[in-house]
Amino acid sequence: MKGVILAGGHGTRLHPITQGVSKQLLPVYDKPMIYYPLSVLMLAGITEIEIISSPDDLGSFQRLLGDGSWIGLSLTYAEQDKPRGLADAFLVSADHIGDDSVALVLGDNIFHGARFGPLLQRAGQDVKGCVLFGYPVRDPERYGVGVLDEQGKLISIEEKPAKPRTNMAITGLYLYDNDVVDIARNLQPSERGELEITDVNRVYLERGEATLVPLGRGFVWLDTGTHDALMEAGQYVQVLEHRQGVRIACLEEIAWRMGYIDRDTCYRLGSRLSKSPYGRYVMEVAKSG
Ligand code: G1P
Repeated sequence: MKGVILAGGHGTRLHPITQGVSKQLLPVYDKPMIYYPLSVLMLAGITEIEIISSPDDLGSFQRLLGDGSWIGLSLTYAEQDKPRGLADAFLVSADHIGDDSVALVLGDNIFHGARFGPLLQRAGQDVKGCVLFGYPVRDPERYGVGVLDEQGKLISIEEKPAKPRTNMAITGLYLYDNDVVDIARNLQPSERGELEITDVNRVYLERGEATLVPLGRGFVWLDTGTHDALMEAGQYVQVLEHRQGVRIACLEEIAWRMGYIDRDTCYRLGSRLSKSPYGRYVMEVAKSG
């Protein structure tokens, strides 16, 4: 399975912060936002990942993450000259996807929960159709919303409905079989002129091939779309990291635990950042095992 991170957009809801820097490079407490979705794909066992961003910002992501080999990944970069909707990611990354299945994650979505990696690995095995992840929220009208029947089967998907039928938001993490590229090619832009991911998911739903996996109360899905949400995400990470002494979305640690790099490499990567608590944590993790 290939991975795609969509890190485009103008971040207009966060202006003026995002006038000089891409939203997905803003700090969420101690690391850049894109570390969080990247760590999700790594935990799913995906190592070939394409990052999509605007021509202005792509160079910054490349400076930050390089070719990915330092953490055992193969990272490529693709330009989206203007925001054309989430489903445009499958057209931009068609070559990268090739004839494989694909996991798309939005560059501003933060997931956290125990045993999330194994859950994703199971969900990503032989994907037939699409697998979506649902999360109960207080304000479903801001998101794609899924309706399940009594057997837990997905029966309807609506994008930002004025009167949501459930509180089950569809998160920004999507697994698809290879048909997604053709489905995206045949989409018509919506009224706001974008290729909507919800329209892609509806095609799968009509084929009876859309599954929604509800993420339970033990999971955290955070949004970073407003100043308050961004601040709250940072505070969540800060509280958890202070209390437990672990770090969320520490790429070097995940690379080592997933077997993408060895212990010595992990230590060496930490020592390069040894002036920061993040770097010292990486060294400590590699030392203590
Ligand atoms: C997009 C999708 C929506 C999904 C959300 C998750 O909305 O269109 O279905 O629930 O991402 O973050 P956007 O954030 O682009 O408004």
